[in-house]
Amino acid sequence: MKLPAEKWFEAVKKRSSVRNFLSAKLKEEDAGKLITFLELFNQYYNGIRIRYVNTGFQEVAKGFIGSYGKIDGAQSYLVCLAEKNTPHKNEKIGYVGEAAVLEAVSIGISSCWITGTYKKEDVAKQIKIDENEYIKSIIALGYAKKKTKLSEKVIKAIVSSKKRKSLEELCENGVDSNWPNWVKTALETARLAPSAINRQPWRFRVSENEITIYIEEKLGKKDLKKLDCGIAMLHLEVGALYSGVKGHWEYSLDPEIAKFVKE
Ligand SMILES: Cc1cc2nc3c(=O)[nH]c(=O)nc-3n(C[C@H](O)[C@H](O)[C@H](O)COP(=O)(O)O)c2cc1C
Repeated sequence: MKLPAEKWFEAVKKRSSVRNFLSAKLKEEDAGKLITFLELFNQYYNGIRIRYVNTGFQEVAKGFIGSYGKIDGAQSYLVCLAEKNTPHKNEKIGYVGEAAVLEAVSIGISSCWITGTYKKEDVAKQIKIDENEYIKSIIALGYAKKKTKLSEKVIKAIVSSKKRKSLEELCENGVDSNWPNWVKTALETARLAPSAINRQPWRFRVSENEITIYIEEKLGKKDLKKLDCGIAMLHLEVGALYSGVKGHWEYSLDPEIAKFVKE
């Protein structure tokens, strides 16, 4: 499937995590558009699927008032599912889940990825999960309240969500001013990707016609960092495509994640 580069490039610039939603499920028309997109995009990878749930988010969310993860108002949500034994399932979940997020932004829907503060057992009461499937994450969906609540401002400040590491920090050998434009745009677009607690675990190595993404070596749950990397991979590809460069991903062995190869 061809990624809608221009539309998603705009969505990357508009997107930010919302934790204070109007108390409403998605409008039928908007939900319909997202479901149509998911039916198509769920075929992108074998063993990976994103399910739309119209209502019930508040029953599965387990944030506490004032803490990271408290999501007000949202009722609709997405469930990111991976079949056991799917290779690179975390990266693929990140990639496909973020595709749904960017498509949602284009429709006018706000969102927040949630990997911590929810109960998997309660999600399983609301949708049918196959025996060989894992729930990897959920994504709250809704319409942002105009005025940001103080608690959301506090969370954003704590996780410094507006802050992103510089490309100098993220690229193995720093930034080279001679890089072609597509490389610079691809990296800048990846840099804006969301990640759990804004940790930005991805690092990049640029060589001729290739960009490798790998995880910085530090403690922490690796599966989730891989999911973050999958999100950055989608952003990177959107940036490359927006600059007119098509490419494909080749998965690598730990600790490297994958390599984007220009075609
Ligand atoms: C994989 C993933 C998991 C996340 N989990 C949570 C979560 O459990 N609770 C929460 O409030 N925010 C969560 N977030 C949102 C991040 O804190 C947010 O994306 C990050 O701080 C960057 O801010 P931004 O999305 O506004 O650019 C998650 C984001 C990602 C990508």
